[in-house]
Amino acid sequence: MIVEAKGIGVRRGGRDILRDVDFCVAPGEMIALIGPNGAGKSTLLRSLNGLVKLSDGTLALAGTPIAGMTRRQIARVAAYMPQQAGDTADCSVAECVMAGRLPHMSGTDGGDRRRVFETLERLGLLEFSERPLSHLSGGERQRVFLARALVQEPRLLLLDEPTSALDLRHQLDTFEHVAAIARAEAVAVVVAIHDLSLALRYADRVVMMSGGRLVADGAPAAVVTPDLIRDTYGVSASVGRVDGHTVVVPLRSMGNDRPAGE
Ligand SMILES: Nc1ncnc2c1ncn2[C@@H]1O[C@H](COP(=O)(O)OP(=O)(O)OP(=O)(O)O)[C@@H](O)[C@H]1O
Ligand SMILES: [Mg+2]
Repeated sequence: MIVEAKGIGVRRGGRDILRDVDFCVAPGEMIALIGPNGAGKSTLLRSLNGLVKLSDGTLALAGTPIAGMTRRQIARVAAYMPQQAGDTADCSVAECVMAGRLPHMSGTDGGDRRRVFETLERLGLLEFSERPLSHLSGGERQRVFLARALVQEPRLLLLDEPTSALDLRHQLDTFEHVAAIARAEAVAVVVAIHDLSLALRYADRVVMMSGGRLVADGAPAAVVTPDLIRDTYGVSASVGRVDGHTVVVPLRSMGNDRPAGE
């Protein structure tokens, strides 16, 4: 197992924002993490990368308890793409992506630069490589942060809403690319996402969170059902087939009659 979390919990300001989470991830698995705002998706992803201190439970990454790992050791296993990139330093695109190589760099390896430019090319970002990050559009910048996570060549890729700023084509290209890496290199992927149709299309497994807990974990079609969507999001939805794909159409918010997350 690349991730083995048993009974993990996170407490902040006297509140349990993650509660009793059992979560295992095998190499090559692509897992979509879904659930309403505030459900705990980002907290779980950050916990898996050692960025959040656990209040309860145990967590091992690739068989090693995370509590005893250094940042560099964690970064050689797991790459994390944050929901909101806090980078304000105005580096160039190539410099920003090069930061993803830091856990591996020996100082003499010209291969790091080659990997950065290969990844930029694959994500259609080559033309931006020398531009300052601040001169990019929101979606272009989001693709740069994905590139930075990919050049880290992790065994576990933690992506927090990686397509939230992307146009339709780049949403599909991003998921196709990540799914291909998961298959070809047995990289495990955990991706938080609000687009349930994309989750159904690309995930091997869907994990639904609500109120800091896992409320469902299983095959996409077993988790993304009208009943669970109603109970978890407070929205009535239709789940149907279009052109061979299962899609979710939200029909009506139940508003205050049925608050989401309760
Ligand atoms: N440092 C903190 N201190 C106190 N509460 C926090 C802290 N960080 C997060 N929270 C709370 O924990 C809960 C879970 O937050 P989290 O960011 O994990 O949600 P999420 O599922 O990623 O939501 P979204 O879909 O909006 O990104 C929220 O209610 C949030 O307000
Ligand atoms: Mg989040």
